[in-house]
Amino acid sequence: MAARLLPLFLAIISLLMISSLIRSLEGSGIGIYWGQNGDEGDLYETCNRRTYDYVIIAFLATFGSGQTPVLNLAGHCIPSPCTFLSSQIQFCQSLGIKVFLSLGGGGSGRPVLSSPDDALEVAAHLWNNFLGGQSDSRPLGDAILDGIDFDIESGSNLYWDDLARALSNYSTPERKVYLSAAPQCPLPDYYLDRAIRTGVFDYVWVQFYKNPPCQYSLGDTNNLFNCWSQWASYPGVNTSFPAVNTSLSLGLLAAPEAAPSSGYIPPQVLIDQVLPFVEQISNYGGVMLWSKYYDTYYSELIRSYVNPDVVAYDKKVHDKVLCHRLSSSRYLLRDEM
Ligand SMILES: *[C@@H]1O[C@H](CO)[C@@H](O)[C@H](O)[C@H]1NC(C)=O
Ligand SMILES: *[C@@H]1O[C@H](CO)[C@@H](O)[C@H](O)[C@H]1NC(C)=O
Ligand SMILES: *[C@@H]1O[C@H](CO)[C@@H](O)[C@H](O)[C@H]1NC(C)=O
Repeated sequence: MAARLLPLFLAIISLLMISSLIRSLEGSGIGIYWGQNGDEGDLYETCNRRTYDYVIIAFLATFGSGQTPVLNLAGHCIPSPCTFLSSQIQFCQSLGIKVFLSLGGGGSGRPVLSSPDDALEVAAHLWNNFLGGQSDSRPLGDAILDGIDFDIESGSNLYWDDLARALSNYSTPERKVYLSAAPQCPLPDYYLDRAIRTGVFDYVWVQFYKNPPCQYSLGDTNNLFNCWSQWASYPGVNTSFPAVNTSLSLGLLAAPEAAPSSGYIPPQVLIDQVLPFVEQISNYGGVMLWSKYYDTYYSELIRSYVNPDVVAYDKKVHDKVLCHRLSSSRYLLRDEM
């Protein structure tokens, strides 16, 4: 009797496992940093590639403490102003891709908040110049970005929690202001720890590269897995606290050249060994890649393993409308017409 029921039992168990896996992949996607190399293609090309769910424009490098904000997009808009990017951003959004502005970065910028009030001022500046507010000098034009990414790696570590709370306070039922953070993998992150603990971030994409104690190296996944588990239970990230709704993503290099011997995971290792482990947590959010310039094939290879339901692939009807509207544009994918 029991022996006869065994196959049925196994079938039910595997169905349950598959359905919980699908559920955990539902909210996962691929984020890409764009903006730090003028030769990486524009945003039409980036978004038309259909492998990304989030495009993170990098970086607003200097701001706060009364400094004139400096938007550094490498060669993308020198010497012209960056306002022409507005229609490109809107194009990405029309495909269902969320577009963020990233604060900070690893360069020579100086992101420094001098007080909680300064954090409120910076939040208002970001709201008026990049989000749903108004200003007559919006650096990226009229396009309303979906959110703000915190990639603070220099400057000061104070008041980022105030900025995160103040920005999340601009969300309305009609339009959410999405917030993401890109901390280094060793815990706690020097710059972003207090901000992350607020629990207001929607996405935390941890940089599991250029950090030997917690990155993949030479076939060894132990450091990476231990650190991932610590992040999954971390305050502000774990979902056992009802107010926290943060998804956790694996931040990776898109090619070995992006940072030599610094944690690059070959695609097949990612697919066979790493994803099956990381996607076990209920708030698994997918993969973030550094950066568009280096992503010559990585995102294509891993896409269907991160989320087979490609954000832009299922928008064919929408594409036809766009094709019609942009019929003179050289950016269209021919096979979609
Ligand atoms: C959030 O918004 C409310 C209402 O607009 C305001 O009273 C409050 O001070 C804001 N809080 C923060 C942290 O900005
Ligand atoms: C989960 O996060 C909450 C706050 O967000 C914290 O109080 C709790 O200690 C965390 N759980 C673990 C296991 O760290
Ligand atoms: C949590 O986040 C997911 C994905 O962003 C969203 O669909 C869901 O509505 C959120 N839940 C709450 C309670 O905010």
